[in-house]
Amino acid sequence: MKRYIHFPKVEGRASRQAHADLPAGTYEREISKEGFFGPAAHLYHRHPPTAWTDFEGPLRPHAFDCTKLSRAEGSPWDAPELLWNASARVRFWRCESKMPALARNADGDELLFVHAGSGEFFCDYGHLSFETGDYLLIPRGTMWRVECASPLAALLIEATNNSLRLPDKGLVGPHAIFDAAMLDTPSIDEAFEEQRDGEWRVAIKRRNAISTVTYAFNPLDAVGWHGDLSVARINVRDLRPLMSHRYHLPPSAHTTFVADRFVVCTFVPRPFETDPGAMKVPFFHNNDDYDEVIFYHAGNFFSRDNIHPGMITMHPGGFTHGPHPKALQNVFEQKKPATDEYAVMIDTRDALEIAPAAADIEWAGYVDSWKPAR
Ligand SMILES: [Fe+2]
Repeated sequence: MKRYIHFPKVEGRASRQAHADLPAGTYEREISKEGFFGPAAHLYHRHPPTAWTDFEGPLRPHAFDCTKLSRAEGSPWDAPELLWNASARVRFWRCESKMPALARNADGDELLFVHAGSGEFFCDYGHLSFETGDYLLIPRGTMWRVECASPLAALLIEATNNSLRLPDKGLVGPHAIFDAAMLDTPSIDEAFEEQRDGEWRVAIKRRNAISTVTYAFNPLDAVGWHGDLSVARINVRDLRPLMSHRYHLPPSAHTTFVADRFVVCTFVPRPFETDPGAMKVPFFHNNDDYDEVIFYHAGNFFSRDNIHPGMITMHPGGFTHGPHPKALQNVFEQKKPATDEYAVMIDTRDALEIAPAAADIEWAGYVDSWKPAR
């Protein structure tokens, strides 16, 4: 039996409501367990906790610019790996035309997020078209390939030895954010029937090594299927974010997919909070139990400076962060009525390793972007 201590206490000058009505002139920092679900405390500081004059050592945060990864690869298994641990792998893949072989991930489910591009996706289950902003959830063991109509740039997120599922939507019920009926699945259609020709290879990834199987026919030759396992597609524009006009919701309110050791959240445009006492930017925190990765897809990133679409930031667990100095000026008053950002967040329960391809595209000055202007 393990139980956390539960004692909501208030000490000194403090708000009794998180993220609202802060004591005048203070900056709120959250220390919490289990992401945003365990015991937590909110501390009201005299100075922004990120107003450092110097920061040295391996806890520093990272920013990577994927727009510098220009090489296109015919196989997702040749895409540069950026971040990884025993339960997750993040790669950035560019593909310009038609994959010459089928791919099959025997290591885990794959989530493909289309940052740019469009085309046709063929797999065991049939055919569907893809476009910018699509998530394609590809179950482990599925054979697939793409034919691009416009060049594809995609974030690949592998749930190693695991599955990607939907979060429990709790109080707001299963139809909130997106209804499962919005998930599209491939069809055994004319385009699928027509792509059956020639000799085909399948590149199977298992334990991160590739095996190649050759067939004298196209193994994407199912005439039909039934069941409750398939590729699923949803576009970020079809996400209907939760928000409250009186309370800044934590990122966990924007969870889209969950694996055992990481979650994927999606930030999509939403109105800013309007209650005068409610915070309009994220609170400072250290995400002590998670490494936090954000891929910036489109729009203006309201809490960050110097970040453009195609970049990735990585905040290791224990690194205190929050709004950048410019964004902090808008903590209680935003100039615009709504955010216009699209971003994909991956929070991993275990520490991530930075692969050489990511180190090559790192912006080393990122930690200094919180320094107060002098
Ligand atoms: Fe964070």
